[in-house]
Amino acid sequence: MYRPHTTCRACGYAFHGAGGNRNPNEKLVSVFNLGVQPLANDFCKSGQERQGYAPLEVLFCEKCRLAQLSVVVKPEVLYKNYAYVTSDSETMRKHFAALVSDLTAEQPAGPVVEIGSNNGALLKHLRAEGFINSVGIEPAENLAREANADGVLTINDYLDSESAAKAKADCGGKVSFVLARHCFCHADSWVKMIDGFEALADKDTLIAIEVPYLPDQIANVSFDQCYHEHLSYLSLSAMAALLEDSVLRMHKVIKYPIHGGCVLIMLRPLNSGRDPHPSVEQFMGQENITADTWREFAAEAHAQIHKLGLLIKSLRDAGKTVCGYGASAKSTVWVNACKFSRKDISFITDTTKGKWHTTSPGTDIPITDPGALLRELPDYCILFAWNFASEILAKESLYREKGGKFIIPVPHIKIV
Ligand code: TYD
Ligand code: ZN
Repeated sequence: MYRPHTTCRACGYAFHGAGGNRNPNEKLVSVFNLGVQPLANDFCKSGQERQGYAPLEVLFCEKCRLAQLSVVVKPEVLYKNYAYVTSDSETMRKHFAALVSDLTAEQPAGPVVEIGSNNGALLKHLRAEGFINSVGIEPAENLAREANADGVLTINDYLDSESAAKAKADCGGKVSFVLARHCFCHADSWVKMIDGFEALADKDTLIAIEVPYLPDQIANVSFDQCYHEHLSYLSLSAMAALLEDSVLRMHKVIKYPIHGGCVLIMLRPLNSGRDPHPSVEQFMGQENITADTWREFAAEAHAQIHKLGLLIKSLRDAGKTVCGYGASAKSTVWVNACKFSRKDISFITDTTKGKWHTTSPGTDIPITDPGALLRELPDYCILFAWNFASEILAKESLYREKGGKFIIPVPHIKIV
């Protein structure tokens, strides 16, 4: 199901020994280890076979400062039938509106190719904003099918030079924008990604890559972003190392509050005739993440895991009931790191229908519809979708009026 990862994805530095047998002179060091964990989106109904478990360990390349997992789970296992659906939330709609405004500040709306286009939610939004001629490239069969049925032209594939050529032709031969939201960290071969970008781009193409903002992830101790799908924890310095041999360069960096802090890294070809925006230098200068930064993050993560475990145990001992809100991939990381079972958390609610009547990966905790919160009225509810906290707290005011309390686990565990 998985294989060891042996070459730095950004700088090409070759190392050996993931999983024991490490040589102290090697430039890749282990900085965070959660042991063997289930796959975060492996939500299964009873009778369905689970995909299984794999080591969850972060290694740090001291040459280019890219943090990356020690193993690569086969993409067919993770993405053939993918449970994650871009949420139709107020937070997401606001974010899409901000993206449109920042993209069109660069150049007028035009043909767009989206990599990892999921169910087509962003492409639909863009179409309504005048970005006609759009094509998605999405590896998950179920999502590509759903998007096509919904009228969003989607190629069911990974990005490489071949799928790029096809998408470019479908766009009428010229691509103004290439968007890649939260798929860079999922990709094993960045060489293929860059080949795909180069095949899509001409001198006027703007490539916009959205990734979690690593300094925020570290400051928030959001270790729940560390799961098998997130193969890399991208820093701007690693991005610079990756682009060195390509015809692409960073053009502008914009920060957004979504998902606990993200950046949009805009790239342009070297021959674009445009000077890079000062934000590139600024963000590069603010980022100073070393192996020690990661080690401190790891220590704090283990402390938070211990703290949530103790809190839930003391609530259960006092006869209180506890549920979870949002069967996010992040919830799987928390639940398994804390070794929770149904005895600790009675159920986790989620708006995604496909997750209902399944259990949380690695546990016997059932996933239910969101209505269960008011039907069951548990005393406490752990907000695993903490990245949507303000929207959810407002939406669930009735639960709180009836005495229910939310436990927000990130950035630091707090009860509201
Ligand atoms: P997200 O944070 O995007 O997920 P992940 O950690 O998997 O990348 O999604 C949060 C999950 O929470 C998703 O499964 C949908 C669910 N959700 C709700 O149940 N209710 C809500 O109001 C929102 C916004 C999300
Ligand atoms: Zn490296």
